[in-house]
Amino acid sequence: MPAFATPQNAQRRLQPILRSKLIARLTTPHGVDRYLEQIDPLWSAFETRARVTEVTRQTADTVTLRLQPNANWQGFVPGQYLQLSVDIDGRRYTRCFSPANSCHAKDGHIELTARINPEGTLTRHLRDHAHAGMIVGLSQAAGDFALPAQRPERILLISGGSGITPVMSMLRSLCDEGHRGPITFLHYARSKEDQLYTEELEQLAARHANVTLLRSYEQGAGELYGRFSREQLESAAPDYADATTFLCGPPPMMAAVEAVWAADGLNAQLHRERFVVAASAPATAETTGGELRFVRSERLAVSDGATLLEQAEAAGLRPDYGCRMGICHACSCRKTTGRVRDIRDGRLSGDGEEDIQLCVSQPVGSVTLEL
Ligand code: FES
Repeated sequence: MPAFATPQNAQRRLQPILRSKLIARLTTPHGVDRYLEQIDPLWSAFETRARVTEVTRQTADTVTLRLQPNANWQGFVPGQYLQLSVDIDGRRYTRCFSPANSCHAKDGHIELTARINPEGTLTRHLRDHAHAGMIVGLSQAAGDFALPAQRPERILLISGGSGITPVMSMLRSLCDEGHRGPITFLHYARSKEDQLYTEELEQLAARHANVTLLRSYEQGAGELYGRFSREQLESAAPDYADATTFLCGPPPMMAAVEAVWAADGLNAQLHRERFVVAASAPATAETTGGELRFVRSERLAVSDGATLLEQAEAAGLRPDYGCRMGICHACSCRKTTGRVRDIRDGRLSGDGEEDIQLCVSQPVGSVTLEL
């Protein structure tokens, strides 16, 4: 990351002192962070935190936050995600979001856009309570869905709904870098009113001759019509087989794109990110009625067919989790006996000891967990 003169860089220079043994000894038993918080809640020797500096609402069901991270933030590669944490009623809630800003933003800010999930505590809280000055927790950025250091010449970005955020970061970053190769941006939304970053996309396409913007709306006219299909792709982006493609959106759209790339033997050129769990498998006779044994907490439950994370929570446990979508592995847990089904692709596990992701695993019969 380039070293711009930002408040983060000033704080970064102090970090070796704040983390020194001498400071640790002087601030025992509370720790240095307790004292730093009295000066500025953003300051921390060890934790990554951010201050919300601006809250905007681009569409009726989203909220966009501008965040000023503290000195512990190490930056990101366009396409990666981070975990945002907020304390609500004494409990910490965490969700994954992709920064949508350019990785070359000179002010060091991060921009996150969250789609409000009516069932989701954290996104509803952001909708109702996010304000300038609010402090949130951050993880470092992670994920393999990212622009490679050696930028591909020809790039195809395909997104649907709020899946636009990681590819928006890619587009903004590439434009900032003066990327010369052709970039085609294919986006699907319910309507123009539901589309994120509308004006900026139009401006980027107008300013950069190598950027082609193609949008398709369920309601109303875009540059394209209807859902993704091979025919549409071949007319909109006939060079798709030569492009490195980045895909993020709702499961049906992703499945349609993946089918074309698989049929053409182009899987290696398709990079994808899922931010929505594919339709939760319904409870069946196979997934209900088995015995769930949570060994460490000495609890027992009878399976109702939901994911193991949901069933553990229903049993009063508080397992770690982040994305609840199978991305971050925060919910990984040792299964000692039994089989589970991955709700994303229906894959059945073995029946021996292995680590599983609670948020995307449904028990098949009786299961024992180290939880
Ligand atoms: S909570 Fe992120 S993988 Fe399960």
